[in-house]
Amino acid sequence: MTAKVKSPGKTGELFADLKRPATLGAWLKQAMKLYQQHGLALGQIATTAHDEALYLMLRTVGLPLDSEAGVLTRQLTVGERAKLETVLRRRVLDRTPAAYLTREAWLGDQKFYVDERVLIPRSYFLEIIPEQIDAWLPDPAKVTQVADVCTGSGCLAVLLAQHFPRARVDAVDLSADALEVAKINRNNFRLTRRMLLHRSDVFDRVPVAQYDVILSNPPYEPSAHCDALPAEFQREPRLALDGGADGLAIIRKLLRQARTRLKPHGIVLIEVGGLRTAMDREFAALDLHWLQTVDGSDCVCVINAARLKKWHASPPVRSVGKSHY
Ligand SMILES: C[S@@+](CC[C@H](N)C(=O)[O-])C[C@H]1O[C@@H](n2cnc3c(N)ncnc32)[C@H](O)[C@@H]1O
Repeated sequence: MTAKVKSPGKTGELFADLKRPATLGAWLKQAMKLYQQHGLALGQIATTAHDEALYLMLRTVGLPLDSEAGVLTRQLTVGERAKLETVLRRRVLDRTPAAYLTREAWLGDQKFYVDERVLIPRSYFLEIIPEQIDAWLPDPAKVTQVADVCTGSGCLAVLLAQHFPRARVDAVDLSADALEVAKINRNNFRLTRRMLLHRSDVFDRVPVAQYDVILSNPPYEPSAHCDALPAEFQREPRLALDGGADGLAIIRKLLRQARTRLKPHGIVLIEVGGLRTAMDREFAALDLHWLQTVDGSDCVCVINAARLKKWHASPPVRSVGKSHY
């Protein structure tokens, strides 16, 4: 997506409209116009300009996200208009993602702290953890060891800890900055005793353990794609997006290391974005099983320990390169 470049004069005019007294609804309309005229990218926190702009406005003026539609007829005070203008300028002119402006992201009805140090959570595991994962385990109630590799904000590690209340969760990330954010979320969700943070390149520096579940939403964009992403997505840490030349660098390393870290009935689940075809080709011997999600995006695969072990006995012909990082 390419942003239209506005001349300063034109942009000034657009924001001048916002100076007049107006209702929240009128501001929303104007904000949507700005989103459209500046070609803002969506998909990090909402999929329509209406939803994202409304979210930003409610948050900025301190109104509940489930406010009734009548809230749109509310007149804004001078102070509220000033705050909204500042936020909109940052969103529209600086292309700062909405979640970095509000310092929060939602997975379902749970709020996570986020900032520029982490990817904004938007994973299919929100649906898969509660609805599909148990079917792959002999006794989900007895799950005691889980790993979230490439944890970022720690959001998926939190979901795993909630889903498996008896489990210890190892949350792993290479980025010290990301782990600082994960620590905030771990504390906010009161999981200090069960969620352990590890700074490591995949499992390199994680103490040896045998897991029931290893889950990962790793960086999987091919490096060249990262440079072409819309500005908002390029604001996210490059380390969170870039999966090496073909996007598979971290996934290769993860699968290799997972072979020795699973219990006999254990499973690995990996979210791979648009790499399904590449995965099926490279890991044909693993006979990957792709999970269906509500919108049909089969971009999460599951592999059980038995299959991974067999694969170990006959590794793929393709030589495995060193991890990208
Ligand atoms: C796509 S983000 C996922 C974050 C989080 N799990 C989520 O779903 O929102 C990928 C994360 O992997 C981390 N990462 C990148 N390379 C890594 C590596 N070699 N080992 C461990 N973590 C890595 C990044 O720092 C980033 O936080």
